[in-house]
Amino acid sequence: MRLAVILSRVRAEEKLLFAELERRGVAYDRIDDRDVVFDLDSVHPRYDLVFERCINHSRALYALRLFNDAGVTTVNSYEVAENCGNKVISSSLLVKHGVPTPRTLVAFTPESALRAIETIGYPAVLKPVIGSWGRLLSVVSDRYAAEAILEHKDTLGSYQHSIFYIQEFVEKPGRDIRSFVVGEQTIAAIYRYSDHWITNTALGGRAEGCPVTDEISSLSLAAARAVGGGVLAVDLMETPSGLQVTEVNYTMEFRNSIQTTGVDIPARMIDYVLHRAEAAVAA
Ligand SMILES: Nc1ncnc2c1ncn2[C@@H]1O[C@H](COP(=O)(O)OP(=O)(O)O)[C@@H](O)[C@H]1O
Ligand SMILES: [Mg+2]
Repeated sequence: MRLAVILSRVRAEEKLLFAELERRGVAYDRIDDRDVVFDLDSVHPRYDLVFERCINHSRALYALRLFNDAGVTTVNSYEVAENCGNKVISSSLLVKHGVPTPRTLVAFTPESALRAIETIGYPAVLKPVIGSWGRLLSVVSDRYAAEAILEHKDTLGSYQHSIFYIQEFVEKPGRDIRSFVVGEQTIAAIYRYSDHWITNTALGGRAEGCPVTDEISSLSLAAARAVGGGVLAVDLMETPSGLQVTEVNYTMEFRNSIQTTGVDIPARMIDYVLHRAEAAVAA
């Protein structure tokens, strides 16, 4: 079996994944996305599977696309990365598959975005279509704040900010839930507690173990399937009418969740990667 991991920097997660591969005596190549050059006439057709662990969404996306087009299986696939990395597409797929998610409106100009915000009502949440770690999210509480954010995005924002993603603000109980899906199983979940409405652990949210209830399990699987399945982390919010899925992440971070949940997340990820690689060899 010819396995490779494409990555940017070796973070805590990659160290754990490499240790797991080495513990099992599995040989693999490391492809550094800062060095790699793709020759479109021969995009590494020699790998059975490439495991993607890039930090940068664009690099992940193009690398996965080139591998997949060259017939190389990847975890996750290009399609899944595209579906998860773009919040307009993720939300559209969640709605299409009947997965409960906050009401979301999409607009293309500051004027129509203001109308969308007033349709949602205040407070309303604005998110960059592509982004993570809770960066550049805003909540607007009145019309003046909405106008200011929209003007800033319009004047200072890059191309990414020309599409307006507007969502109802969900009153959470001081926390949200992050679940981990590997293939057809929700293997673990954590609560992320924060005094801030943005609970990402990258911004100081505190991780605590969360039992994987039937509702968390089935909703996480439904969300994972909606985007195409694989190794995925699902953000969920508790609302009076039940859980809602916020988003699905395709290059999941898990350093804060192993001790917290008692689940060997990297080992389960490698189980899945090897299983997929064996299937690719057999095919
Ligand atoms: N509509 C919302 N209402 C209330 N809180 C939200 C809403 N959307 C996101 N959040 C909070 O912000 C965090 C980050 O949002 P998310 O959509 O997951 O973006 P990112 O890709 O940056 O993680 C969520 O984990 C949640 O705590
Ligand atoms: Mg998130």
